[in-house]
Amino acid sequence: MIDSRHKCVANITTMEGATEASASARDTSADPGAAGGPAADHAPLRVAVAGTGFIGVVHAHAARRAGARLVGVAASSASSAREAAQALGADRGFADAESMVTAADVDVVHICTPNNLHAPLAHAALAAGKHVICEKPLAVDRDEAADLVRAADAAGVVAVVPFAYRFYPLVREARTRVAAGAIGPVRLIHGCYLQDWLATEGDDNWRVDPERGGPSRAFADIGSHWCDLVEFVTGDRLAAVCAEAVTAVPERVSAGDSHAFEGRVRARTDGIRRAVATEDIMVVLFRTRRGVAGSVVVSQVSPGRKNRLQFEVAGADATLSFDQEQPEFLWVGRRDVAEVVPRDPAHLAAEAARYAVLPPGHPQGYQGCFDAFVADTYEAIRAGSAAAVDGLPTFADGARAADITAAVLRSTRTNRWEDVP
Ligand SMILES: NC(=O)c1ccc[n+]([C@@H]2O[C@H](COP(=O)([O-])OP(=O)(O)OC[C@H]3O[C@@H](n4cnc5c(N)ncnc54)[C@H](O)[C@@H]3O)[C@@H](O)[C@H]2O)c1
Repeated sequence: MIDSRHKCVANITTMEGATEASASARDTSADPGAAGGPAADHAPLRVAVAGTGFIGVVHAHAARRAGARLVGVAASSASSAREAAQALGADRGFADAESMVTAADVDVVHICTPNNLHAPLAHAALAAGKHVICEKPLAVDRDEAADLVRAADAAGVVAVVPFAYRFYPLVREARTRVAAGAIGPVRLIHGCYLQDWLATEGDDNWRVDPERGGPSRAFADIGSHWCDLVEFVTGDRLAAVCAEAVTAVPERVSAGDSHAFEGRVRARTDGIRRAVATEDIMVVLFRTRRGVAGSVVVSQVSPGRKNRLQFEVAGADATLSFDQEQPEFLWVGRRDVAEVVPRDPAHLAAEAARYAVLPPGHPQGYQGCFDAFVADTYEAIRAGSAAAVDGLPTFADGARAADITAAVLRSTRTNRWEDVP
């Protein structure tokens, strides 16, 4: 079954013009290696996307906006891949993700499948010399994530993880201000990442199943974004955590293969009930390497909160607050006055203005972050190194998130503070 969200992406205009948009989806029997060999330097990168649910579509859109050629897609079956290829304007649907990630005519592989498939697909792609964009969590445990970092280093390719919230212009502005000392020494970091799409027992997704999602759900899924973002903005790192996990919905009614964020009006009652083994809520106290105290509340069961990733960094002189649901503004508070800084490139640091692609007052949003992240990744591929582009989240950052998640899970078991390596 194809995700209905594909429909709105079928007519994307790419930087290269309409040529890819009009490419017809071929049968999976088409020879994947027909146009094999590396792409010429001037030619569009040839990319392939594994997993065509919520985020796979966002990736496909971003890839084409960045001027890549969407060579193919893979989904949970050959027929759904064919259907997705047609809807997304990809050259073809592959019979399976395994054959796609090693296909001779693919330069860059985007892995957008359920979490348990990240590591095997990324290893296969790296072994075949592909550049890899692998969704978070990079792997379902820290050993697997560390293995992937080693494999990416050995392959000498660009290997990145979409911590895409880094690409909001006002996140870059906050980072630049903190680094420049504009808020003074940081004293406190706190915030939340709240959603409601898993709030009732009728809400289900593969993420709830530890076999597919991994041993942590809410924290690995969205808490990892929050931690990456505050480490990115402050330049500091979490050193120890003390965590409390809550499974607020102890049983859920199975929804088969439903896609992420498919909100239902009425709770499902007609499926198989199963016990939930992963957390809906994680509350974490932390201290950083520089000795700053902080906390974060992560929840996928907070009614009315859709995707509220919010952080606040208080320095001795000023406080910065950012909410990804209102990404056009950064709140800056001082003792005498508070101001709201709009996303106006004329008044932002160069590091932030670079990501302001529309005039102020013409809102940029979530898809824009992915467009910027993918464009930067392709730029790094052209330059030959992820280090060539400032702020690109690499596999090392993905492994860092796995280290934090492991420490948080340990703390929930030991009821003690646990160090983060
Ligand atoms: N970076 C972000 O901001 C962000 C946001 C959302 C999701 N994600 C990550 O992206 C991944 C996918 O999440 P989603 O929300 O798109 O889920 P989803 O359920 O909407 O989509 C998953 C897709 O994977 C496909 N799939 C399942 N088994 C497959 C297989 N064997 N081969 C190929 N495809 C297969 C499914 O058909 C489906 O299209 C997860 O790892 C998630 O953590 C990241």
